Amino acid sequence: MKKFSLLMMLLATAFGSFAQEAVAAAEEETKVVIPDPSLGISTTELLIITLLVFSIILLFVAITLYKSFKVIYQESKNPTPYKTKEDRRLEYEEWVKLNGEKPNIWTKLLSLKPLSAEKDLEIPHTYDGIKELNNPVPAWFNVLFYGTLIFAAGYLYYYHIGEHGERQDDEYKTEMAKADLAKQKFLAKSASSVDENSVKIDPSQIAVGKGVFDANCVACHGAAGEGLVGPNLTDEFWLHGGSVKDVFKVIKYGVPEKGMVSWEKNMSSANISAVTNYILSLQGSKPANPKAPQGEKYDAAAAEAVAN
Ligand code: HEC
Repeated sequence: MKKFSLLMMLLATAFGSFAQEAVAAAEEETKVVIPDPSLGISTTELLIITLLVFSIILLFVAITLYKSFKVIYQESKNPTPYKTKEDRRLEYEEWVKLNGEKPNIWTKLLSLKPLSAEKDLEIPHTYDGIKELNNPVPAWFNVLFYGTLIFAAGYLYYYHIGEHGERQDDEYKTEMAKADLAKQKFLAKSASSVDENSVKIDPSQIAVGKGVFDANCVACHGAAGEGLVGPNLTDEFWLHGGSVKDVFKVIKYGVPEKGMVSWEKNMSSANISAVTNYILSLQGSKPANPKAPQGEKYDAAAAEAVAN
């Protein structure tokens, strides 16, 4: 409870000073702010804080005094006898006896023997007075050593006897085969993705283009491209230009406000390229019942001259 009210007090002071800072910041635009030496704390708040700090110090002093008086009282009741014997350093064996001889995990892991067991470890020969101890091999080393043996046996069985796993050269071959497949896929994809910048006149696509045209465009452009709802595609007059790129673009993006569909979403770019080639092959084919020319006459030579 005491702690809580103290916390609230501190919070209140903090917010108080914060609010004052905000006001000061707002006033800053209109006048020069004179620095406030009281840090934004009122006299009452200052008094309360001083009192609090003082009472905390008082509490510590009281506790210390209480503890010392307790010691004085206990000593006067049954005083500790003065030390008669002289302080003496323990021998190692005594220390071991006092502290117990249980080895810890670290000692076990390193297979360390206590110094008291040194006599039993001595190998009975000396060289220039130097003795040798027959220390056991540490546990961690044995675990590693026998671990490698077991691993090797498993490895040998898995790769060489059971032939379950792929060996290095086989692994290399499969990786290469996979890469070849990925390469072929990539090349096929990049070859089939044509756009208005890479489309070209290619007579080998005309047959495919005719199929695409018959399936999708006849309703509006007529069976021979002579024009119905859509314009005549066999004459030299074009609404949107007569170059391969122009035709490809119109088919791809369409002219939605005039009733020409955008085929981008429903037709592969390869098919758009094919039907473009088919349409251009119809130039000058003079079908029956042609629709009257619309747009401007397209002059390939003139267009090229403009482009260059
Ligand atoms: C729903 C009817 C409709 C269908 C289906 C249609 N078109 Fe069109 N197409 C039009 C109309 C209408 C125009 C004229 C747009 C304009 O006035 O700008 C047009 C214009 C064109 C043009 C531009 C002609 C020029 O003079 O510039 C081409 C090329 C074309 N269509 C190709 C196709 C192809 C290829 C298909 C089939 C994949 C197709 N259209 C399917 C209605 C259609």
